[in-house]
Parts: sequence; structure tokens; C-alpha cells
Amino acid sequence: MKRISLLGCGAIGTQLALAIDCGKIPATLTHVYDGSKEASLSLVEKLKNKPIIAENSHLLSSYPVDIVVEAASQEAVKDVALSVLQNKRDLMIMSVGALLDESIYDVLSEACKDFKKTIYLPSGAIGGLDAIKSVKDEIESLSITTTKHPRSLKGAKFFETSKINLDSLDCATTIFEGSAREAVSLFPANINVAALLSLCGIGSEKTVVTIVADPATNKNTHHIEVGGKFGKMTFTIENIPDPSNPKTSRLAILSAIETLRKYCSNEIHIGT
Ligand SMILES: NC(=O)c1ccc[n+]([C@@H]2O[C@H](COP(=O)([O-])OP(=O)(O)OC[C@H]3O[C@@H](n4cnc5c(N)ncnc54)[C@H](O)[C@@H]3O)[C@@H](O)[C@H]2O)c1
Repeated sequence: MKRISLLGCGAIGTQLALAIDCGKIPATLTHVYDGSKEASLSLVEKLKNKPIIAENSHLLSSYPVDIVVEAASQEAVKDVALSVLQNKRDLMIMSVGALLDESIYDVLSEACKDFKKTIYLPSGAIGGLDAIKSVKDEIESLSITTTKHPRSLKGAKFFETSKINLDSLDCATTIFEGSAREAVSLFPANINVAALLSLCGIGSEKTVVTIVADPATNKNTHHIEVGGKFGKMTFTIENIPDPSNPKTSRLAILSAIETLRKYCSNEIHIGT
């Protein structure tokens, strides 16, 4: 059985831990850590097989685990990712936006080679990454339009300087258009999918992101268009937001569970 430690006990971390606890992911969750002690305690309380609460996030990779799972924040990735690899553990990252910082991406990429370890980035709240990866060298344009209810966008750094008042919107309104690089820095907790698309497509400067706030929607919808020598692809994913964190889609959680389940299982792997 693989041994796992978990950084972040919020919406995603909790569902991952429950999936391990009920045997859906064939593994043992040995340690957890969350900056909020309350979040760690509340998660441990929900589990039959109780993991130990680590004293700090850096200790998570010092125990004899196979993989550290990050489901916390971009800051957490910046803080611990390198030491996880140096401690010769694999790493699964949910806060993918952190990797759009080129210096971080390059350092982690080198460390994977140096320490012969792997970083896993689940497809998160979108589909189609397998196909996009395959046509990577032939892509000429790549865009994503994300539509969310205003409450799913609240608290983003973008609103510190913008005049838009999310509470006063009465119809679908485009609030941002720009590159994936800008989108990820202004909406760090809302637009990880744009980071994923950039990383497996044509990079964060050329990936075009539009964000729409729609008070009439109850979904997190992503519409992706990819064009190039290979032809054209469009994907539309209408996600149900997670009840405990409306910024996070149910599919992102299920995708994290499936990535970890695959990592822990010996089986036939389907898809690119
Ligand atoms: N890849 C994707 O498609 C995708 C989709 C949704 C969310 N995410 C990202 O995954 C992460 C987790 O999402 P969530 O919905 O579970 O969020 P959440 O807010 O429900 O939970 C995050 C938890 O991590 C803790 N935390 C944050 N920073 C920390 C740090 N530096 N050290 C220790 N603990 C820390 C918080 O206290 C919180 O309990 C977020 O960064 C989110 O943006 C990615």
C-alpha cells in the first residue's frame, strides 16, 4: 500500500482523505497538516483511520511516505514543493497556478530529474488535456472562457484595484480578458484550469483567458477552444461547485481522487 501525507484539509483535502479512508484510493493516509489547526482536527475527526497531524508542512515529506499531496494554496507550493522532491517523495499539486512562475517551474522540473521523482497535476475542473497535449506542437490559438457566479469569484486579488462591484451585477458580465499569466496572478484561487491549459499547450502568455461573472448561473462553466494545423477542438464543461467551497468544482475533486487512485493502483492505464 502506498503511504500518503496531505497538505491542506479544505474542500479537496477532505474529500481525498475520505476517499482513502473508505478504500476507494488503496493507500494509507499517515499525516496531515493545515495552517488552520481547526481544519486539521475537523478532518481527522471525520476519518475512521486517523492520520497524525504534523507540526508543520515541511515535516510531511520527512516521514516515510511515497507521495505528498498539496491541496492548500500557491504559497504552500512555493514553500514546500522543492523540499518534498529533495526528500525523494513524489508530489501531487492542486494549486497549479504556482507553476506559472517560470523560475519555480524550472527549479521543480530540474529537481524531478535530479531526485528521480514525479510531480502529478490532475486535470482538475476541465477535460480535454489529453488531446491538447497530443497536438501541443501544432497549436496556433488556445482560449478559455470561464463563467462563474459572482460568489465563486469573491476575494480575488483582482478586486483590490478593480471598480467592479460583484454584488451589484444583474446580468452576465465580462470582468477580465487577458493572458493566463495575468489571470492566474489576479485570480489565484479561481483559475487553476488556465494554468493547466498553459502548461500543456502554448504557454501562459499566448493562452487567452476571459472571465465572466453571471449572477444567474449555478455552475462553474469552462469553454475551451483550440485551433491549429491539426484541426479544431472545443470543450465545454459545466461543473457543479462544491458546497463547502464554491470556488472549487466537484470535477476538480473527482479528478484529484482519480489521479491519486491511479497512482496507488497497479492496472491498465487508459488515455494519453
Ligand atoms: N487544479 C484545479 O483544477 C483546482 C481546482 C480547484 C481548486 N484548486 C486549488 O486547490 C487548492 C485547494 O482547494 P480547496 O477547494 O480545497 O481550498 P479550501 O480553501 O477549501 O482549502 C484549502 C486549505 O488549505 C489551507 N492552507 C492554505 N494555505 C496553506 C499553507 N500555506 N499551509 C498550510 N495550509 C494551508 C487552508 O487553511 C484551507 O484549510 C487551492 O489552491 C485551489 O485554488 C485547484
